[in-house]
Amino acid sequence: MTVNTQRPLAKHVKVVEVGPRDGLQNESGGMLDAKVKASLINQLAAAGLTHIEAAAFVHPKWVPQMANSAQVLQLITAHNHVSYSALTPNMKGLERAIEAGVNEVAVFGAASESFSQRNTNCSIAQSLTRFEPVVQKALDAGLKVRGYVSVVVDCPYEGAISPTAVADIAQQLIHMGCYEVSLGDTIGTATPFGMLRMLEAVNHKIPTSKLAGHCHNTYGQALANVLCMLEAGVTTFDSSVAGLGGCPYAKGASGNLATEDLVYMLHGLGIHTGIQLDRLARVGQNISDLLGRPNGSHAGQAMMSSV
Ligand code: HMG
Ligand code: MG
Repeated sequence: MTVNTQRPLAKHVKVVEVGPRDGLQNESGGMLDAKVKASLINQLAAAGLTHIEAAAFVHPKWVPQMANSAQVLQLITAHNHVSYSALTPNMKGLERAIEAGVNEVAVFGAASESFSQRNTNCSIAQSLTRFEPVVQKALDAGLKVRGYVSVVVDCPYEGAISPTAVADIAQQLIHMGCYEVSLGDTIGTATPFGMLRMLEAVNHKIPTSKLAGHCHNTYGQALANVLCMLEAGVTTFDSSVAGLGGCPYAKGASGNLATEDLVYMLHGLGIHTGIQLDRLARVGQNISDLLGRPNGSHAGQAMMSSV
């Protein structure tokens, strides 16, 4: 393995909060009110999050919980220093996102054919062909565009994924104009060596400054995976307040790494995030209470039990 894990750790890490999208997309107990979602996003911004994935302009039949995305964006008290982004799987999604006034969008592909079909009803090649004009139009409209690759280590339908397949797709997303590619361990089964093997292949083609880690925590490996990616030079990580969420097209996939746990570890390592952990812990507890579920963040639970 040639990924350099001996370098000094970064001084600053960018945290991309995906709770309002990746977290809430899996909520099955009826549509959450747009006011509740907007309030969550406002609270996250007030706690210091500057990159918030707020919505998804996907087909409402495929992910019903995201159907009120436009309304959510309308109700946010937007700040100039905060990026409010939305998933856009195709041109129709991008048009809806532009109309709703987002300043960043994300296209999302997958490293396995089965996952691509189930998630976006098309092959990997079709998805990339579809993304090209979407990315171009978004860039022409002055939006930043992020790319995702899902199932970068394991696929729930095909098993182990070839690291070079991930690298090829990630490279194509960067060539199209994505400023960053987020590498998704969608089902949270990856362990550090698997993540590093995948990262090494991707890093042959893309510098770590353009990569992000997106670790679901199904098997409790997310923080370990983040730490090894951090040591290898990745400085952007996605996470979800209170560990909310999962992917509706990856059975059994639980939420992302909880943002509180990520921030607790980063601050403990002396890494700056700009996030106020105590305020964030309250946001996590509030949304957990509201959804009537246990708080999925260890740090959040510990902090809230000691106040
Ligand atoms: P499709 O059915 O193949 O779409 O869905 P189509 O192009 O054949 O169009 C069929 C109808 O849908 C048409 O309407 C379109 O207008 C409409 P009709 O003419 O029949 O009345 N339509 C739309 N309506 C609203 N918004 C749109 C849209 N597009 C078409 N954007 C599609 C293809 C991609 C739309 C569908 O498969 C879809 O929405 N998939 C999204 C699935 C999803 O959101 N998954 C979760 C997010 S990804 C994730 O969680 C992973 C990630 O977190 C990283 C990780 O963890 O690995 C990012
Ligand atoms: Mg995800």
